Amino acid sequence: MKILVVGSGGREHALAWKLLQSSQVEQVFCVPGNGGTAGLNRCENISKSVDDFEGIGNFALNEAINLVVVGPEVPLAQGITDYLQSLGLKVFGPNKAGAQIEASKVWAKTLMQEAKIPTANSAVFNRAAPAKSYIKDHELPIVIKADGLAAGKGVTVATTRNQAVEAVEAVFRGQFGAGEFVIVEECLIGQEVSVLALTDGLTIRPLLPAQDHKRIGEGDTGENTGGMGAYAPAPIATVNLMERVQKQVLDRTINALRARNIDYRGVLYAGLMINPSGEFKVLEFNCRFGDPETQVILPLLETPLEELMLACVEQRLEQMPPIEWKQGACATVVAASGGYPGVYETGKVITGIAHAEAAGATVFHAGTTLNQQLITDGGRVLNVTGMGENFEQALRLAYAGIEQINFEGMYYRRDIGYQVKG
Ligand code: AMP
Ligand code: GLY
Repeated sequence: MKILVVGSGGREHALAWKLLQSSQVEQVFCVPGNGGTAGLNRCENISKSVDDFEGIGNFALNEAINLVVVGPEVPLAQGITDYLQSLGLKVFGPNKAGAQIEASKVWAKTLMQEAKIPTANSAVFNRAAPAKSYIKDHELPIVIKADGLAAGKGVTVATTRNQAVEAVEAVFRGQFGAGEFVIVEECLIGQEVSVLALTDGLTIRPLLPAQDHKRIGEGDTGENTGGMGAYAPAPIATVNLMERVQKQVLDRTINALRARNIDYRGVLYAGLMINPSGEFKVLEFNCRFGDPETQVILPLLETPLEELMLACVEQRLEQMPPIEWKQGACATVVAASGGYPGVYETGKVITGIAHAEAAGATVFHAGTTLNQQLITDGGRVLNVTGMGENFEQALRLAYAGIEQINFEGMYYRRDIGYQVKG
Protein backbone atom coordinates (compact mmCIF):
# COMPACT_ATOMS: atom_id res chain seq x y z
CA MET A 1 0.00 0.00 0.00
CA LYS A 2 0.93 3.65 -0.44
CA ILE A 3 0.71 6.05 2.48
CA LEU A 4 0.87 9.84 2.60
CA VAL A 5 2.11 11.43 5.84
CA VAL A 6 1.27 15.10 6.38
CA GLY A 7 3.76 17.14 8.45
CA SER A 8 7.46 17.88 8.78
CA GLY A 9 8.60 17.17 12.34
CA GLY A 10 10.36 14.43 14.25
CA ARG A 11 6.95 12.87 14.80
CA GLU A 12 6.38 12.54 11.05
CA HIS A 13 9.88 11.13 10.48
CA ALA A 14 9.13 8.48 13.13
CA LEU A 15 5.71 7.74 11.59
CA ALA A 16 7.21 7.29 8.10
CA TRP A 17 10.10 5.19 9.46
CA LYS A 18 7.72 2.91 11.36
CA LEU A 19 5.24 2.54 8.50
CA LEU A 20 8.09 1.57 6.15
CA GLN A 21 9.07 -1.32 8.43
CA SER A 22 5.96 -3.21 7.33
CA SER A 23 6.22 -5.45 4.27
CA GLN A 24 2.70 -4.28 3.33
CA VAL A 25 3.87 -0.70 2.84
CA GLU A 26 5.35 -0.15 -0.58
CA GLN A 27 5.89 3.59 -0.48
CA VAL A 28 5.48 6.58 1.82
CA PHE A 29 5.18 10.19 0.70
CA CYS A 30 5.66 13.07 3.15
CA VAL A 31 4.11 16.49 2.71
CA PRO A 32 6.40 18.38 3.07
CA GLY A 33 8.65 16.06 5.14
CA ASN A 34 12.16 17.04 6.25
CA GLY A 35 15.81 16.11 5.73
CA GLY A 36 15.24 12.82 7.55
CA THR A 37 12.25 11.62 5.53
CA ALA A 38 14.15 12.63 2.36
CA GLY A 39 16.82 10.09 3.29
CA LEU A 40 14.51 7.11 3.96
CA ASN A 41 14.32 4.30 1.40
CA ARG A 42 10.96 4.14 -0.39
CA CYS A 43 10.06 7.58 0.96
CA GLU A 44 9.66 10.76 -1.04
CA ASN A 45 9.10 14.34 0.10
CA ILE A 46 6.41 16.30 -1.72
CA SER A 47 6.94 20.01 -1.61
CA LYS A 48 3.49 21.32 -0.64
CA SER A 49 2.30 23.16 2.40
CA VAL A 50 0.21 21.28 5.00
CA ASP A 51 -2.63 23.77 4.46
CA ASP A 52 -2.77 23.20 0.70
CA PHE A 53 -5.70 20.78 1.04
CA GLU A 54 -6.52 20.85 -2.65
CA GLY A 55 -2.94 20.16 -3.71
CA ILE A 56 -2.64 17.33 -1.17
CA GLY A 57 -6.00 15.88 -2.27
CA ASN A 58 -5.09 15.94 -5.98
CA PHE A 59 -1.73 14.36 -5.29
CA ALA A 60 -3.31 11.60 -3.17
CA LEU A 61 -5.92 10.83 -5.84
CA ASN A 62 -3.33 10.77 -8.65
CA GLU A 63 -1.04 8.47 -6.72
CA ALA A 64 -3.91 6.23 -5.57
CA ILE A 65 -2.90 6.71 -1.93
CA ASN A 66 -4.47 4.08 0.35
CA LEU A 67 -4.14 5.99 3.61
CA VAL A 68 -3.41 9.58 4.60
CA VAL A 69 -1.93 10.09 8.08
CA VAL A 70 -2.10 13.65 9.43
CA GLY A 71 0.56 14.59 11.99
CA PRO A 72 0.03 18.20 13.15
CA GLU A 73 -2.99 19.77 14.86
CA VAL A 74 -3.31 22.88 12.70
CA PRO A 75 -4.52 21.18 9.48
CA LEU A 76 -6.76 18.87 11.56
CA ALA A 77 -8.37 21.88 13.24
CA GLN A 78 -8.79 23.48 9.79
CA GLY A 79 -10.67 20.43 8.49
CA ILE A 80 -8.13 18.59 6.31
CA THR A 81 -9.80 15.27 7.21
CA ASP A 82 -13.28 16.45 6.21
CA TYR A 83 -11.91 17.71 2.88
CA LEU A 84 -9.89 14.60 2.00
CA GLN A 85 -12.74 12.30 3.08
CA SER A 86 -15.06 14.20 0.75
CA LEU A 87 -12.74 13.12 -2.09
CA GLY A 88 -13.13 9.48 -1.02
CA LEU A 89 -9.72 9.19 0.65
CA LYS A 90 -9.07 7.25 3.87
CA VAL A 91 -7.71 9.55 6.54
CA PHE A 92 -6.21 8.76 9.95
CA GLY A 93 -6.86 11.84 12.10
CA PRO A 94 -10.08 13.38 13.44
CA ASN A 95 -12.36 15.69 11.49
CA LYS A 96 -12.71 19.39 12.30
CA ALA A 97 -15.44 18.78 14.88
CA GLY A 98 -13.27 16.22 16.68
CA ALA A 99 -10.14 18.38 16.54
CA GLN A 100 -11.90 20.96 18.73
CA ILE A 101 -10.79 18.81 21.65
CA GLU A 102 -7.36 20.39 21.14
CA ALA A 103 -8.25 23.56 19.25
CA SER A 104 -10.54 24.93 21.98
CA LYS A 105 -9.59 24.44 25.59
CA VAL A 106 -13.01 25.80 26.63
CA TRP A 107 -14.76 23.18 24.48
CA ALA A 108 -12.55 20.41 25.89
CA LYS A 109 -13.08 21.60 29.46
CA THR A 110 -16.87 21.63 29.03
CA LEU A 111 -16.74 18.11 27.62
CA MET A 112 -14.62 16.93 30.55
CA GLN A 113 -16.96 18.48 33.10
CA GLU A 114 -20.06 17.03 31.47
CA ALA A 115 -18.53 13.58 31.10
CA LYS A 116 -17.15 13.63 34.68
CA ILE A 117 -13.58 13.23 33.51
CA PRO A 118 -11.16 14.17 36.33
CA THR A 119 -9.66 17.57 35.55
CA ALA A 120 -8.47 20.73 37.35
CA ASN A 121 -11.11 23.08 38.78
CA SER A 122 -11.43 26.08 36.54
CA ALA A 123 -13.51 29.02 35.40
CA VAL A 124 -13.92 30.56 31.94
CA PHE A 125 -14.13 34.33 31.29
CA ASN A 126 -14.76 36.41 28.19
CA ARG A 127 -13.57 39.65 29.85
CA ALA A 128 -10.47 40.55 31.84
CA ALA A 129 -12.11 42.21 34.89
CA PRO A 130 -13.97 39.17 36.30
CA ALA A 131 -10.95 36.95 35.54
CA LYS A 132 -8.76 39.30 37.60
CA SER A 133 -11.13 39.30 40.56
CA TYR A 134 -11.32 35.50 40.42
CA ILE A 135 -7.51 35.43 40.58
CA LYS A 136 -7.61 37.62 43.74
CA ASP A 137 -9.77 35.05 45.52
CA HIS A 138 -7.78 31.97 44.56
CA GLU A 139 -4.55 30.39 45.70
CA LEU A 140 -1.18 30.68 43.98
CA PRO A 141 0.27 29.32 41.80
CA ILE A 142 -2.58 29.65 39.36
CA VAL A 143 -2.76 28.66 35.70
CA ILE A 144 -3.93 30.99 32.91
CA LYS A 145 -4.79 29.46 29.54
CA ALA A 146 -5.71 31.02 26.21
CA ASP A 147 -8.54 29.19 24.47
CA GLY A 148 -7.20 28.41 20.98
CA LEU A 149 -4.16 26.74 19.41
CA ALA A 150 -1.02 28.58 20.48
CA ALA A 151 1.82 26.20 19.51
CA GLY A 152 2.30 25.27 23.18
CA LYS A 153 2.68 28.92 24.27
CA GLY A 154 -0.83 29.69 25.52
CA VAL A 155 -0.38 28.43 29.11
CA THR A 156 1.12 30.45 31.99
CA VAL A 157 1.71 28.88 35.38
CA ALA A 158 1.71 32.10 37.44
CA THR A 159 3.46 32.20 40.80
CA THR A 160 2.46 35.79 41.60
CA ARG A 161 -0.87 37.59 41.17
CA ASN A 162 0.81 40.21 38.99
CA GLN A 163 2.06 37.54 36.64
CA ALA A 164 -1.44 36.02 36.49
CA VAL A 165 -3.01 39.39 35.74
CA GLU A 166 -0.43 40.08 33.02
CA ALA A 167 -1.16 36.70 31.46
CA VAL A 168 -4.90 37.45 31.40
CA GLU A 169 -4.21 40.79 29.72
CA ALA A 170 -1.94 39.11 27.17
CA VAL A 171 -4.73 36.66 26.28
CA PHE A 172 -7.24 39.46 25.64
CA ARG A 173 -4.64 41.45 23.67
CA GLY A 174 -4.72 38.51 21.27
CA GLN A 175 -1.13 37.47 21.97
CA PHE A 176 -2.08 33.79 21.67
CA GLY A 177 -4.63 33.79 18.85
CA ALA A 178 -8.21 35.04 18.87
CA GLY A 179 -8.20 36.06 22.55
CA GLU A 180 -11.94 35.69 23.16
CA PHE A 181 -11.80 33.49 26.23
CA VAL A 182 -9.44 32.82 29.09
CA ILE A 183 -9.47 29.82 31.41
CA VAL A 184 -8.21 30.31 34.96
CA GLU A 185 -7.36 27.01 36.51
CA GLU A 186 -6.13 25.43 39.72
CA CYS A 187 -2.43 24.49 39.53
CA LEU A 188 -1.88 20.75 39.71
CA ILE A 189 1.32 19.25 41.05
CA GLY A 190 2.99 15.94 40.34
CA GLN A 191 4.43 14.20 37.32
CA GLU A 192 3.06 14.57 33.80
CA VAL A 193 2.35 11.53 31.64
CA SER A 194 1.20 11.44 28.03
CA VAL A 195 -1.30 8.72 27.20
CA LEU A 196 -1.80 8.45 23.44
CA ALA A 197 -4.68 6.22 22.44
CA LEU A 198 -5.87 4.91 19.08
CA THR A 199 -9.57 5.12 18.38
CA ASP A 200 -12.06 4.38 15.64
CA GLY A 201 -14.74 6.43 17.36
CA LEU A 202 -16.22 3.40 19.14
CA THR A 203 -13.30 1.53 20.71
CA ILE A 204 -10.26 3.23 22.22
CA ARG A 205 -6.95 1.55 23.06
CA PRO A 206 -3.96 3.21 24.71
CA LEU A 207 -0.40 2.99 23.42
CA LEU A 208 2.45 2.72 25.94
CA PRO A 209 2.47 5.74 28.29
CA ALA A 210 5.32 8.20 27.74
CA GLN A 211 6.89 11.02 29.68
CA ASP A 212 8.04 14.21 28.06
CA HIS A 213 10.47 16.81 29.43
CA LYS A 214 8.76 20.08 28.50
CA ARG A 215 11.13 22.63 30.05
CA ILE A 216 14.25 23.95 28.34
CA GLY A 217 16.53 23.66 31.39
CA GLU A 218 17.99 20.79 33.34
CA GLY A 219 16.01 19.76 36.43
CA ASP A 220 12.83 20.68 34.49
CA THR A 221 13.40 24.42 34.89
CA GLY A 222 12.99 27.46 32.65
CA GLU A 223 10.66 28.07 29.76
CA ASN A 224 8.19 25.59 28.31
CA THR A 225 9.15 24.11 24.94
CA GLY A 226 7.58 21.66 22.52
CA GLY A 227 9.52 18.95 24.40
CA MET A 228 13.26 18.44 25.00
CA GLY A 229 13.27 14.67 25.43
CA ALA A 230 11.02 11.77 26.29
CA TYR A 231 10.96 8.17 27.36
CA ALA A 232 8.59 5.20 27.33
CA PRO A 233 7.08 3.19 28.86
CA ALA A 234 6.63 5.64 31.76
CA PRO A 235 6.85 3.53 34.94
CA ILE A 236 4.69 5.98 36.92
CA ALA A 237 1.72 4.92 34.76
CA THR A 238 1.21 1.54 36.42
CA VAL A 239 -1.19 -1.13 35.12
CA ASN A 240 -3.67 -0.07 37.78
CA LEU A 241 -3.41 3.59 36.80
CA MET A 242 -3.83 2.74 33.10
CA GLU A 243 -7.01 0.78 33.93
CA ARG A 244 -8.41 3.83 35.69
CA VAL A 245 -7.38 6.05 32.78
CA GLN A 246 -9.19 3.72 30.37
CA LYS A 247 -12.44 3.90 32.35
CA GLN A 248 -12.38 7.45 33.62
CA VAL A 249 -10.75 9.24 30.69
CA LEU A 250 -10.62 7.31 27.43
CA ASP A 251 -14.00 5.56 27.47
CA ARG A 252 -15.78 8.60 28.86
CA THR A 253 -14.25 10.86 26.23
CA ILE A 254 -15.27 8.63 23.33
CA ASN A 255 -18.80 8.35 24.75
CA ALA A 256 -19.01 12.12 25.15
CA LEU A 257 -17.80 12.66 21.57
CA ARG A 258 -20.37 10.18 20.25
CA ALA A 259 -23.09 11.94 22.26
CA ARG A 260 -22.13 15.05 20.27
CA ASN A 261 -22.34 13.03 17.02
CA ILE A 262 -18.60 13.30 16.51
CA ASP A 263 -17.05 10.41 14.64
CA TYR A 264 -13.46 10.59 15.92
CA ARG A 265 -10.91 8.35 14.19
CA GLY A 266 -7.24 8.85 14.97
CA VAL A 267 -5.20 9.55 18.08
CA LEU A 268 -6.62 10.96 21.27
CA TYR A 269 -3.76 12.23 23.42
CA ALA A 270 -4.52 12.78 27.09
CA GLY A 271 -1.96 14.84 29.02
CA LEU A 272 -2.27 13.78 32.66
CA MET A 273 -0.88 15.07 35.92
CA ILE A 274 -0.34 12.31 38.49
CA ASN A 275 -0.07 13.57 42.05
CA PRO A 276 2.14 11.99 44.74
CA SER A 277 -0.76 9.82 45.97
CA GLY A 278 -1.31 8.34 42.52
CA GLU A 279 -4.45 10.29 41.64
CA PHE A 280 -4.60 11.83 38.20
CA LYS A 281 -6.33 14.66 36.40
CA VAL A 282 -6.40 15.59 32.72
CA LEU A 283 -4.37 18.72 31.90
CA GLU A 284 -5.22 18.79 28.22
CA PHE A 285 -6.28 16.75 25.24
CA ASN A 286 -4.53 16.75 21.89
CA CYS A 287 -6.05 15.44 18.68
CA ARG A 288 -2.81 13.91 17.30
CA PHE A 289 0.36 12.02 18.12
CA GLY A 290 2.66 13.79 20.61
CA ASP A 291 6.06 15.10 19.59
CA PRO A 292 8.56 13.82 20.87
CA GLU A 293 6.48 11.07 22.56
CA THR A 294 5.86 9.34 19.21
CA GLN A 295 9.62 9.02 18.71
CA VAL A 296 9.86 6.81 21.84
CA ILE A 297 6.56 4.93 21.54
CA LEU A 298 6.76 3.75 17.92
CA PRO A 299 10.19 2.06 18.18
CA LEU A 300 8.63 -0.22 20.84
CA LEU A 301 5.56 -1.09 18.75
CA GLU A 302 5.49 -4.63 17.40
CA THR A 303 2.07 -4.68 15.67
CA PRO A 304 2.32 -3.17 12.17
CA LEU A 305 1.29 0.47 12.52
CA GLU A 306 -0.63 0.66 9.23
CA GLU A 307 -2.84 -2.26 10.35
CA LEU A 308 -3.81 -0.38 13.49
CA MET A 309 -4.40 2.85 11.58
CA LEU A 310 -6.55 1.17 8.94
CA ALA A 311 -8.56 -0.57 11.67
CA CYS A 312 -9.26 2.88 13.14
CA VAL A 313 -10.21 4.39 9.79
CA GLU A 314 -12.41 1.42 8.85
CA GLN A 315 -13.96 1.26 12.31
CA ARG A 316 -12.95 -2.26 13.24
CA LEU A 317 -10.50 -1.65 16.09
CA GLU A 318 -12.50 -3.90 18.42
CA GLN A 319 -11.76 -6.91 16.19
CA MET A 320 -8.00 -6.35 16.28
CA PRO A 321 -5.90 -8.56 18.56
CA PRO A 322 -4.25 -6.73 21.50
CA ILE A 323 -1.52 -4.30 20.47
CA GLU A 324 1.89 -5.98 20.82
CA TRP A 325 5.00 -4.30 22.18
CA LYS A 326 8.70 -5.06 22.22
CA GLN A 327 10.31 -5.60 25.61
CA GLY A 328 12.57 -2.88 26.91
CA ALA A 329 12.68 0.89 26.98
CA CYS A 330 13.19 3.79 24.62
CA ALA A 331 14.47 7.33 25.23
CA THR A 332 15.08 10.34 23.03
CA VAL A 333 17.13 13.50 23.52
CA VAL A 334 16.34 16.61 21.49
CA ALA A 335 19.18 18.58 19.91
CA ALA A 336 17.91 22.16 19.68
CA SER A 337 19.16 25.35 18.06
CA GLY A 338 20.88 27.73 20.50
CA GLY A 339 18.31 30.27 21.73
CA TYR A 340 15.25 28.00 21.36
CA PRO A 341 12.45 28.40 22.53
CA GLY A 342 13.26 32.08 21.98
CA VAL A 343 15.03 33.49 18.94
CA TYR A 344 17.44 31.16 17.13
CA GLU A 345 19.32 30.96 13.85
CA THR A 346 18.86 28.31 11.16
CA GLY A 347 20.97 27.16 8.20
CA LYS A 348 23.76 25.59 10.29
CA VAL A 349 25.50 22.54 8.82
CA ILE A 350 24.82 19.35 10.78
CA THR A 351 27.53 16.69 11.08
CA GLY A 352 27.92 13.34 12.79
CA ILE A 353 24.55 11.65 12.21
CA ALA A 354 26.15 8.59 10.57
CA HIS A 355 28.50 8.29 13.54
CA ALA A 356 25.56 8.56 15.95
CA GLU A 357 23.80 5.76 14.12
CA ALA A 358 26.97 3.68 14.09
CA ALA A 359 27.02 4.12 17.87
CA GLY A 360 23.59 2.46 17.99
CA ALA A 361 21.23 5.46 18.10
CA THR A 362 18.33 6.14 15.74
CA VAL A 363 18.19 9.77 14.68
CA PHE A 364 14.79 11.26 13.86
CA HIS A 365 14.98 14.63 12.16
CA ALA A 366 12.73 17.50 13.25
CA GLY A 367 13.89 20.90 11.93
CA THR A 368 16.31 19.86 9.20
CA THR A 369 16.42 20.31 5.47
CA LEU A 370 18.56 18.75 2.78
CA ASN A 371 20.11 21.48 0.68
CA GLN A 372 23.10 19.64 -0.77
CA GLN A 373 24.23 19.45 2.83
CA LEU A 374 21.99 18.72 5.80
CA ILE A 375 21.25 22.01 7.56
CA THR A 376 19.18 23.14 10.54
CA ASP A 377 15.75 24.51 9.77
CA GLY A 378 13.94 24.89 13.10
CA GLY A 379 14.14 25.17 16.88
CA ARG A 380 14.09 21.48 17.63
CA VAL A 381 16.50 19.95 15.13
CA LEU A 382 17.05 16.25 15.90
CA ASN A 383 15.69 13.56 18.21
CA VAL A 384 18.51 11.20 19.05
CA THR A 385 16.87 8.00 20.19
CA GLY A 386 18.12 4.91 21.98
CA MET A 387 16.42 1.60 22.61
CA GLY A 388 17.59 -0.99 25.10
CA GLU A 389 16.65 -3.62 27.62
CA ASN A 390 16.17 -0.92 30.26
CA PHE A 391 16.26 2.87 30.59
CA GLU A 392 19.96 2.94 31.45
CA GLN A 393 20.85 1.25 28.17
CA ALA A 394 18.39 3.30 26.14
CA LEU A 395 19.69 6.58 27.60
CA ARG A 396 23.31 5.52 27.20
CA LEU A 397 22.74 4.90 23.48
CA ALA A 398 20.86 8.16 22.99
CA TYR A 399 23.63 10.16 24.69
CA ALA A 400 26.43 8.24 22.95
CA GLY A 401 24.68 9.20 19.71
CA ILE A 402 24.12 12.86 20.45
CA GLU A 403 27.78 13.29 21.46
CA GLN A 404 28.73 12.46 17.86
CA ILE A 405 26.54 15.20 16.43
CA ASN A 406 27.44 18.81 15.96
CA PHE A 407 26.07 22.05 14.58
CA GLU A 408 26.83 25.62 15.57
CA GLY A 409 24.93 26.58 18.74
CA MET A 410 23.59 23.07 19.40
CA TYR A 411 21.96 22.67 22.83
CA TYR A 412 20.61 19.62 24.58
CA ARG A 413 19.64 18.63 28.10
CA ARG A 414 21.98 16.20 29.83
CA ASP A 415 19.42 14.93 32.33
CA ILE A 416 16.69 13.37 30.19
CA GLY A 417 15.17 10.42 32.04
CA TYR A 418 16.62 11.38 35.42
CA GLN A 419 13.46 10.00 37.07
CA VAL A 420 14.02 6.52 35.64
CA LYS A 421 17.81 6.13 35.74
CA GLY A 422 18.86 3.17 37.87
P1 AMP B 1 -1.62 22.47 27.94
O1 AMP B 1 -1.43 23.21 26.66
O2 AMP B 1 -2.96 22.63 28.58
O3 AMP B 1 -1.09 21.10 27.89
O4 AMP B 1 -0.55 23.05 28.94
C1 AMP B 1 0.81 23.02 28.64
C2 AMP B 1 1.59 22.69 29.88
O5 AMP B 1 1.24 23.61 30.92
C3 AMP B 1 1.25 21.32 30.46
O6 AMP B 1 1.95 20.30 29.83
C4 AMP B 1 1.67 21.54 31.90
O7 AMP B 1 3.06 21.44 32.02
C5 AMP B 1 1.25 22.95 32.17
N1 AMP B 1 -0.11 22.99 32.75
C6 AMP B 1 -1.29 23.08 32.09
N2 AMP B 1 -2.33 23.07 32.95
C7 AMP B 1 -1.81 22.98 34.19
C8 AMP B 1 -2.37 22.92 35.51
N3 AMP B 1 -3.67 23.00 35.74
N4 AMP B 1 -1.49 22.80 36.55
C9 AMP B 1 -0.16 22.75 36.35
N5 AMP B 1 0.42 22.80 35.15
C10 AMP B 1 -0.38 22.93 34.07
N1 GLY C 1 5.01 16.82 23.56
C1 GLY C 1 3.84 17.55 23.73
C2 GLY C 1 2.92 17.60 22.60
O1 GLY C 1 3.08 16.93 21.61
O2 GLY C 1 1.95 18.35 22.68
